[in-house]
Amino acid sequence: MNPLPSIPFGRPWITADERQAVMDVLDSPILTHGPQCKAFEEEFAAFVGEGAHCVSVSSCTAALHLAYFYFGLGAGDEVIVPAQTHTATAHAVELVGAKAVFVDCILETGNIDPAAIAAAMTERTKAISIVHFLGIACPMDEIIAIANRHNLKVIEDAALAVGTYFDGKHAGLHGDVGAFSFYPVKHITTAEGGMFVTRHREIADAVRKLRGFGVDRTFSERKVPGMYDVLTLGFNYRMSDVQAAIGRQQIHKIPDILERRAANFRRLQSHLAAVPNTLIIDSQTPRSTNSFYCLTLILRGPISTSRDAVVEQLNARGIGTSIYYPQPVPRMTYYRKKYGYDTSRYPNATTISDCSIALPVGPHISLDEMDYIGKTVQQVIQEMTP
Ligand SMILES: Cc1ncc(COP(=O)(O)O)c(C=O)c1O
Repeated sequence: MNPLPSIPFGRPWITADERQAVMDVLDSPILTHGPQCKAFEEEFAAFVGEGAHCVSVSSCTAALHLAYFYFGLGAGDEVIVPAQTHTATAHAVELVGAKAVFVDCILETGNIDPAAIAAAMTERTKAISIVHFLGIACPMDEIIAIANRHNLKVIEDAALAVGTYFDGKHAGLHGDVGAFSFYPVKHITTAEGGMFVTRHREIADAVRKLRGFGVDRTFSERKVPGMYDVLTLGFNYRMSDVQAAIGRQQIHKIPDILERRAANFRRLQSHLAAVPNTLIIDSQTPRSTNSFYCLTLILRGPISTSRDAVVEQLNARGIGTSIYYPQPVPRMTYYRKKYGYDTSRYPNATTISDCSIALPVGPHISLDEMDYIGKTVQQVIQEMTP
């Protein structure tokens, strides 16, 4: 009998290129905020296009925090945040003292519901935060139109959206600021790391300073070594050159990564599209290109309460899974205690958290393995449906 496969949910794609790049930095005199970071910023800007300005940072959360800090949001301000997201999307708002006002998503895409945005607006609303859920493009035309009507900032959480486009424009470039994550299971990685992206040079220039303590000049701009002034309050949210060197190598792999993810998603979808009592979260319109972070399958009807048991069976058969995201953020203890939680306000976010399974489609998986995953998921659901 063949041994069971062992397919992890995610695996960083690290080759000799990244290893050599790291060794080269370690052999150089500059380990942080040096030439590798600058080159990574320029190369990522070239990848997303539109004359973007990029600022490398320590994480996507740092990029989001910098955005609200730069725009001067604080106590008394509100930001509209999707209930179905990573907690970082909301934490970044709360970290500046503003209030995250949660709204539900659309079940079929997991993306924020534009109609719900309008309903959540008050005179204190200062910004809309959107997330391209699992790399599925949000309808940015509708969101930007709402923001323009009410003079609101738009912050795009593009943590899972390397390779996501709407109307030919890369995610992160529709609003005022975009934030990317390079955490290990993301499309590309720098181990930890993120990118603050904007079309506005003045925002990027200011955030570059906020990222490094509010210091007024870089090493190369200092006439007298060690001499600088501090213009504002700031953070240490810098990326190291070791991380940036990994990121630069990863950029070369993006086309291959996206192609493999799309092919794996479509193969798995072909197995699962007709499985009764399930819904695949997906949305590929003529106006959008998705980045296929994973395939999330919602269990419905009689199987909807058996998600954890289905996951256990899949894991036992060698298939790594995850849940995106395990709770609607307002149900997480911190937010529930602070604001209370009413399921009826976020029914779609609640269904995704409680009844869905995230299946892997990463570039580490072959099409034969996708066939195994598809057939096994079908079989387990059939076995467990009462
Ligand atoms: C939508 C979203 N936003 C933000 C983050 C946080 O990213 P980072 O770990 O780079 O801060 C994540 C992490 O998974 C995420 O999924």
